[in-house]
Parts: sequence; C-alpha cells; structure tokens
Amino acid sequence: VNPSPVPDAAERPSSELAADLAAIVGPDHVLTEPSVIAGYETDWTGRFQGTALLVVRPRSAEEVGAVLRACGARGGGVVPQGGNTGLVGGATPYGHVVLSTTRLDELGPVDEVVAEVEVGAGATLEAVQAHVAPNALTTGVDIAARGSATIGGMVATDAGGTRTVRHGTMRSQLVGIEAVLADGRLVRHDPRADADAGGVHLPSLLAGSEGTLGIVTRVRLRLVPRWRFRAVALVAFEDLASACAAIPRLRRSLPDLEAIEFVDQAGLALVSAHAGMAAPFRAAPAASVLVETAADRPVLDELVAALDGLPGLHDAVAADDGPDRTRLWSYRERVTEAIAAVGVPHKLDVGLPPATIPAFVAALGPAVVAAGPEARLVVFGHLAAGNLHVNVLGVDPASEQVDDVILQLVLAHGGSIGAEHGIGRAKARWLSRARSPGELAVQVAIKRALDPGGLLNPGVLDPGVAPAHDHRPGPDGR
Ligand code: FAD
Ligand code: MLT
Ligand code: ZN
Repeated sequence: VNPSPVPDAAERPSSELAADLAAIVGPDHVLTEPSVIAGYETDWTGRFQGTALLVVRPRSAEEVGAVLRACGARGGGVVPQGGNTGLVGGATPYGHVVLSTTRLDELGPVDEVVAEVEVGAGATLEAVQAHVAPNALTTGVDIAARGSATIGGMVATDAGGTRTVRHGTMRSQLVGIEAVLADGRLVRHDPRADADAGGVHLPSLLAGSEGTLGIVTRVRLRLVPRWRFRAVALVAFEDLASACAAIPRLRRSLPDLEAIEFVDQAGLALVSAHAGMAAPFRAAPAASVLVETAADRPVLDELVAALDGLPGLHDAVAADDGPDRTRLWSYRERVTEAIAAVGVPHKLDVGLPPATIPAFVAALGPAVVAAGPEARLVVFGHLAAGNLHVNVLGVDPASEQVDDVILQLVLAHGGSIGAEHGIGRAKARWLSRARSPGELAVQVAIKRALDPGGLLNPGVLDPGVAPAHDHRPGPDGR
C-alpha cells in the first residue's frame, strides 16, 4: 500500500529544517541519505512503503520538544517511530519527518518495593526484561517482537501479546508516563508526586493513541514476578469449537494460567516448514492450542491433569521450562516470520466475541477464496482474549478488497476491527463504520485540543481519511 508518489530526490531533504534539527540533536542524528533512511520508510511486513523527508534521532525529552517546535514551525507532519515492528502502517512516513525514539533508551533502577521500573520510551522490551530479570521480575506484556519493539511503541499501540490472560495489555502496566506534546510542551504523570486518583489519567490517554497525541519519552512500568516454574502444552483439538469450549474449563482448573494461544492447520504447517521443525502431531489438527501456566511451584502435573478429558482433545505434547518449552512456543511465536518468508501478507488483527469465533473462522475460507485463486489463509492469535490474526497471502498488497471483506465479516459477527495492533493507516477509513459517532467526536476533539495543527502522525487513527487507495497526500504529507 503506497498512498503517496515517491518524491523526487531533490524534494526530499528540506535543508533548512535539516540544519535546524542538526543544531538540536547534532548532525550525526539527522539522517537524509536515501540508503540510510530506507529502513525507516517501509513497515515490517513490506506492505506499507513510504518516503521520509528525513529521520531525526533525539536523545532526550528536551530535544524531542525542540525537534517538534522546529518541525511545527515549518509545517508538515512528524511520524514517531520506535522499533518499526508495528503491523498497521502507523509508523510509516509519507513525505513526513520520522522522529526515531531509539536513543531514548535509558534503563532506570528497579524499585523492588513496588515492583516498578522507569525506562526510556526507546528501550526495547527485551532490554527491559533482561534489566529486571536479576530481581526475579519481568514485564506483564510479552510479544515475539521483543528484540526490536520499544516500550514507547508498545504503549502507543496498547500492545497485547501472549500474557494478556493474566496481566492485561500495555495499558494495565502503566504507572507513570512522560510525553512531549505537539507544541513541544513536556507533560508528566508521576504517581509518587501527583495524586493518582481523580482527573484525566495521562497514561490512559496516551495508551493506544498511536503517536497522534504526543511522543512518549519515558514510562514507569509495573512489573510482575518472574516465576521459577513454567509448563506448556501444545494441544491438538479436533475443531476450533472444542478449543474454544476448553477455555473456561482451563481458566477454572489452572489458577496460574498465563497463555492460551491458537494456530490453525495452515499456520502450523507453514511454521514447521519454515523453522525446519518436525510437525508436532501425527495428524495435522484443525486447531492447535498452546496452553501455559507459571508459578513458584512445579506446575507440569497440574497442567497435564487439566488437559485430561477435555472434549475434542486429540493429542498433546507438554514440557516444563527449558529447550522443549522454547520449541513448543516456536510453533506459535514464529508463525509471523514464517508468513513473511512466503510473501507480503494482508494482516488483520481483529477481536471477536468468543462465542462467534468458530463461525467467523468458518466463514473466512469462502471469503478469502473469492479474493483470488492464489489467496492463502492463515489464522492464529490470542484465543482466550478473542483476538485473532487473520493473514491472507497471495493477494496484491496494494489491493484492499480482501481487507474490506474480512472487516465486514468481523462487524457482522459483532467483533472489533482492531484488537492489539492499533488502527494505524491500515484501518483508519474503517473507524467511522466501527465506532459510534459519539466516541469518534470525543477522539477528534481531544486530537484538536492537543495537536491543533495536525503535526503528529497525520492520517493515523484519523476517522476523516479517505480509503487508502484513493488517498494521495499533498506535498506536506497530509
Ligand atoms: P513502531 O512500529 O515503531 O510504532 C508503532 C506505533 O506507535 C506507530 O503509530 C508509531 O507512530 C507509534 N509510536 C512509536 N513509538 C512512539 C512513542 N515513543 N511515542 C508515541 N508514539 C510512538 N503486537 C501485539 O500487540 N502483540 C503481539 O503479540 C505482537 N507480536 C508481534 C510479533 C512480531 C514478530 C511482530 C513483527 C510484531 C508483533 N506485534 C505484536 C506488533 C508490534 O510489535 C507492536 O505493535 C509494538 O507495540 C510496536 O512497537 P514498536 O516500537 O516497533 O513501534
Ligand atoms: C502475534 O501475536 O504473533 C502477533 O501479533 C504478530 C502477528 O499478528 O503477526
Ligand atoms: Zn498478536
């Protein structure tokens, strides 16, 4: 999806702006060389390909403020970018300045009394996990992109991941926040210094705002125990309905349940071939479900007992901590890279009322076949959260027809068009169909109040955008 024509090289760097920014962050941190900025211009999937006016990499919140003031004075848009692992085109520039947060990567001391840590927004999830591990703590949210995804990007998308059953999404991990608004003002909510009850809760306002209300520069995160024992099982169910029916039983019998994750038959075959791993089951199951439990006592026996007698369960492989656990998780965590190895997918992260999941997935097959003879469907996701990732391969990345058919199907099943990846540019034109007019009016009013000039992430989370294939931003990128 490339809604803007590639600008002529001569149009690219605005040399005056580049000079202003270099005076703020230093010349080494204003990037204009096309081969250097190429990695910032395309999203992780390769479906969203834009162009950056330049890339600026501030080192502090003060520098972020000065950068935004300089960009605001010139006009045009600024796209915040962390690890660039987002999957809805939200960090892709279309003639905009990219503000990369990766240098805001400080790791503060771990506060063991309250189990919290303050980190820079550009720190990767993996760096934070490694930093707090010696204190027997970890992050409540975990995602497979942990090596590149940044805490700021995860806050901005309200990332979910594989542990939401136990700990909720990124929003629930936020204790405090610091951000820079479009006009360069620094705002901060520190629960130790500010009253934490009453009034607008700044962390909640910024969580899920996808870089449209402010640039997150620092975050105080709630941490969770790093359990000593884990047990995981990959379970083969005869159909998706049996897998869904098992969820309430597993929740009841496993008090320390941490994950219930789903991979369909196509996904399991793809990941086994891509990772060079033997298929985990003799017969390929319609639904493979990964169940994990974790506590400070051995939990493998408890997990095996909980699986015993589940209706529709055909087979299961279980392991406790160690290489076998890593291998079983690979069948789920490596599906995304296995899909990317085949081609550029249409990716639709959606939420469904759990009771409708089997019917929704059954309806996907015919809908996708209609998209073209080469279309291949892969479905996986966070089953216990009703959060599915619908992937379609073999369809022109620029076409939006299959996306529309799937999102229409989601709404017809009472679902939501975005569950954990955000709306980005990919689904902005669907907002007016999926959200109530009242809710959208509040969102638009907040955006106008905090960013009246529309500086931050133009086109993202914007209910006013035209269908992406009709959208041709002007020279200022809007
Ligand atoms: P980016 O991609 O750089 O940006 C994402 C959005 O946040 C953009 O709108 C951007 O403008 C904005 N943004 C970035 N930093 C800031 C900031 N400091 N302040 C304000 N706005 C900012 N997501 C899940 O929710 N759950 C998963 O399980 C999951 N698994 C994944 C697995 C793989 C292999 C991959 C490639 C992606 C996965 N994702 C998942 C998607 C992605 O990792 C998340 O959306 C993540 O939160 C993005 O972080 P990032 O730093 O890469 O953000
Ligand atoms: C996941 O759960 O693995 C991710 O959200 C990535 C994806 O949707 O591909
Ligand atoms: Zn996911």
